[in-house]
Amino acid sequence: MPEIWKYIAGSVVLGSAAYSLIKYFAGGVCECPTRLDGLLVIITGANSGIGKALAIELAKRGANLILACRNVKSGLEAKVHILQEAQNSNIQIHVKFLDLCSIHSIKNFSENIQNQFREVYALVNCAGVFYLPHSLTEDGFEVTFQTNYLGPFILTHELIPLLKKQVHARIVNVSSEAHRKVNANDLRSVTLQQNQPVSPFVSYGVSKLALILFTKELAKKLNNTNIIVNAVNPGNVETAIYRHFPPLSNPWLFAIQKPIRTLVVKNPKQGCQSILHALLTSNPSTGQYYSDCKLTLASPLASCDQISREYYRVTCELIRWFPEESEC
Ligand SMILES: NC(=O)c1ccc[n+]([C@@H]2O[C@H](COP(=O)([O-])OP(=O)(O)OC[C@H]3O[C@@H](n4cnc5c(N)ncnc54)[C@H](OP(=O)(O)O)[C@@H]3O)[C@@H](O)[C@H]2O)c1
Repeated sequence: MPEIWKYIAGSVVLGSAAYSLIKYFAGGVCECPTRLDGLLVIITGANSGIGKALAIELAKRGANLILACRNVKSGLEAKVHILQEAQNSNIQIHVKFLDLCSIHSIKNFSENIQNQFREVYALVNCAGVFYLPHSLTEDGFEVTFQTNYLGPFILTHELIPLLKKQVHARIVNVSSEAHRKVNANDLRSVTLQQNQPVSPFVSYGVSKLALILFTKELAKKLNNTNIIVNAVNPGNVETAIYRHFPPLSNPWLFAIQKPIRTLVVKNPKQGCQSILHALLTSNPSTGQYYSDCKLTLASPLASCDQISREYYRVTCELIRWFPEESEC
């Protein structure tokens, strides 16, 4: 074979392999044609990453949005970008302050929403942190545990009355495959010994496992209501969440990994597809875990009814909140 043909054949093989890799790691795509014209969706952490990409997709489908952000300036910038991308002049976007590290802030946010809006179609608990060093919030809880789990737990219960006013409503909790790395001992010790430093990987994994257990238990409590609640794994997505993670926060190390990450890590639009699917699908499954737009089995620990029931009770004790059975 002449040299030139070898060169062309090699390029075609390499190009096809790169394309197949990118397609494979891009994951599932939400194919639901459903629109949400005029319906109100609250997204926490919508100023950045997956939450912002989701906001753009929902705005294109006609949803009104509340961007719940701890950095309002960044939220307002995101609003401008979302409106530009959506090209939909019929939608309304509100930016509201919410700091999940403060129960006081969560209560203020919820009160404000209840005073201003009559009903909410969906709540997406998307805000989260990863690999933060151990510290305690003003409420005395470990920072990752409160941001990723306790905060969404409290916020969700505060907003359930507004979700109940819709004919159909949804809650989506953004979890992670990191939940699989956690064992029962980690779950117990991180939950019950908040001021005991543990590895940031473990506290992240526990917070994401706790979210799935919450999803399961809440779905049971909301059975026979209009509200469907599911957990989602967005996959590995290139966002600012890795800014505290040494192998990626170092610009040199990041630059070395960049070519391979471009192939195997999702962009935020790809990362929000499973959340979009959980919000739009006509499949009425509740208490489930979605990954790549498909129902997926969570870890055995996350799937245990007895643990989810007990964990819900322990969480209520931690935040000193004792709901009536009828409250959910
Ligand atoms: N990226 C991934 O590979 C990946 C994988 C699995 C799961 N996830 C999950 O996906 C979700 C979204 O993450 P992302 O990747 O899009 O990261 P991101 O771009 O860093 O977005 C996280 C968002 O959460 C907000 N946030 C953090 N702490 C908060 C607090 N105390 N109160 C209110 N908002 C707070 C951040 O606000 P600031 O902008 O002010 O920091 C930001 O808007 C997270 O729950 C994450 O655990 C991500």
